[in-house]
Amino acid sequence: MCGIVAYLGKKPAQPILIEGLKRLEYRGYDSAGVALINPDKGGIRVIKSSGRISVLEELLSEPDPKEVVGIGHTRWATHGEPNTINAHPHLDYTGKIAIAHNGIIENYSTLKTWLITKGCKFVSETDTEVIANLIGYLYSNTDGEDAPRDGQNRFEWAVQHALNELVGTYGLAIVCTDFPDMLIGAKKGSPLIFGLGKNEYLIASDAAAIVEHTTQVIYLADNEMVTITPKGFHTKTIDNIEIHKELKQIEFSLSAIELDGFKHYMLKEIYEQPKALNMCLGGRLDMRDGRIVLGGISKYWREFTRAKRIVINACGTAWHAGLIGEYLIEQLARINTETHYASEFRYRNPIIEDDTVVIAISQSGETADTLAAVEQAKERGAVTLGIVNVVGSTIARTTDAGVYLRVGPEIGVASTKAFTAQVAVLAMLAIELGRRRHLSTEQVRFYIEELSKIPAKIEEVLSLSEHIKKIAEATCDRENWLFLGRGFNYPVALEGALKLKEISYIHAEGLPAAEMKHGPIALITKGMPAVFIATKCSQYEKIIGNIEEVRARGGRTIIVASQGDENIKQYADFLISVPDVPEELQPMVTVVPLQILAYHAAVLRGHDVDKPRNLAKSVTVE
Ligand code: AGP
Ligand code: GLU
Repeated sequence: MCGIVAYLGKKPAQPILIEGLKRLEYRGYDSAGVALINPDKGGIRVIKSSGRISVLEELLSEPDPKEVVGIGHTRWATHGEPNTINAHPHLDYTGKIAIAHNGIIENYSTLKTWLITKGCKFVSETDTEVIANLIGYLYSNTDGEDAPRDGQNRFEWAVQHALNELVGTYGLAIVCTDFPDMLIGAKKGSPLIFGLGKNEYLIASDAAAIVEHTTQVIYLADNEMVTITPKGFHTKTIDNIEIHKELKQIEFSLSAIELDGFKHYMLKEIYEQPKALNMCLGGRLDMRDGRIVLGGISKYWREFTRAKRIVINACGTAWHAGLIGEYLIEQLARINTETHYASEFRYRNPIIEDDTVVIAISQSGETADTLAAVEQAKERGAVTLGIVNVVGSTIARTTDAGVYLRVGPEIGVASTKAFTAQVAVLAMLAIELGRRRHLSTEQVRFYIEELSKIPAKIEEVLSLSEHIKKIAEATCDRENWLFLGRGFNYPVALEGALKLKEISYIHAEGLPAAEMKHGPIALITKGMPAVFIATKCSQYEKIIGNIEEVRARGGRTIIVASQGDENIKQYADFLISVPDVPEELQPMVTVVPLQILAYHAAVLRGHDVDKPRNLAKSVTVE
């Protein structure tokens, strides 16, 4: 959600900020802006606008080679509409401080009232302006008892004192005209990394914005800040305690975040799935000894194996993966498992007993609700496991044990390769838990073998893209769709519906197929598309019954079926045949045609697949 990029170095900051902001576009935003400083002259130049970065670019003059310090922001509005005034960076009432902020300040209203009594003027409706004004006010009123000590500069001092008053979340990049060659970054609850290049420093909310310049980074933790000047930097807590932070290497290259000839990131990532799953499974399937190796859990197998209850927390697509995980763990390991929307779990006074293990699933590792659920589970004494893609992200660092997806950066807002990898990790977890509890060696070997074949089977499905496009052409004018599945393919139906909604804006409902007759069947009208996942499985006959019910009411069926299933042809207006896979592992294959269908439908309807309206890639606010 939203993005920050900031620069201090020797090159003109403007093009670096704009390029960085473009790399963050995928996260979703509604307005953008930059603030630039020429350290020789001082003064801040702020340029911002609502809408796309291309609109902002039109407002920019030629880069000034002397403006070598700057901060940039893409905003995803939480407080105040997405107009130019509310766009970031925000200046304080003295015009000396400029800030770019990600997150939400919960006590902004109290602080705003107080600051107004002190004579501070506000021009925007944002919570962010409160931070700017609070820093500005403290900065301009430093005297007596409150004066900074031990030679600490006033700017840094004012930032620390202001941050200590804030309730809520922030990732911040801050500059001050009186210290024109100083840049401050700070973080609480919103991601922020600090990159060290050659004679240059960058701050960003996402590695994608800086990887072109450096792969050497420091991940700031909550309540930490970095102060940068051309001479170097220091990291501190917001209570002014110096801390040493380890330098880390960003693992992905620039090409991983480029389109590579594809029209959209989503399409690229759909096609990357065989490779991505191979990376995810690589080195983890031990065929020789018939076991699964997940290094990040090794210390916690005892707790997992003995768990009486496993609680999965996630949001959106990751929640759908979690639901499949629930079916997998119950089926293969026979441990009672529940999947919760993290946003609900955190507020329901959840019951966590000694033998409860909590799993959090998150592509970004920054989803606010999922993180809060993890913190809550930890407070109540649960062992926590993170299934996360982004290395070094907050959820990855907060959980006790972890399994990375290893699929590389996912840029498309509509999650695809992360979903299949989340299911793959959950399948590995379920198989290994099953092995440690009761599965026979033959069963374990069977599942490992079948899991290793999934990437090749997805490859086969990808070759159906043109066929699926024709189905989309014939159906994408309809505004209401149903997605129906049973058992392991019920969450796939939910995921198929979500994909279609997110990028094509078609209303789609995903359901367990048998639930249809408890209400939604009333929606079926002549020609309404109903997508069934009706592959060979234990409930095959049952789902045929559900297909008949839809057809009897004039619905048009799009059926994902197993290759070689002749019987099903009679029920299908459109048929998509996918390779045979054991029931438990089918979702990784059956979801792929639904991703492709949603993609084509959205493109045919003229939408920008990578920038779906109102959506953000990672939801770092509640
Ligand atoms: C997926 O297509 C969505 N954009 C969304 O539902 C996403 O899966 C959800 O916000 C969770 O994100 P996370 O995996 O980064 O936690
Ligand atoms: N809460 C701030 C605002 O509405 C920041 C939003 C963001 O994270 O982009 O301006």
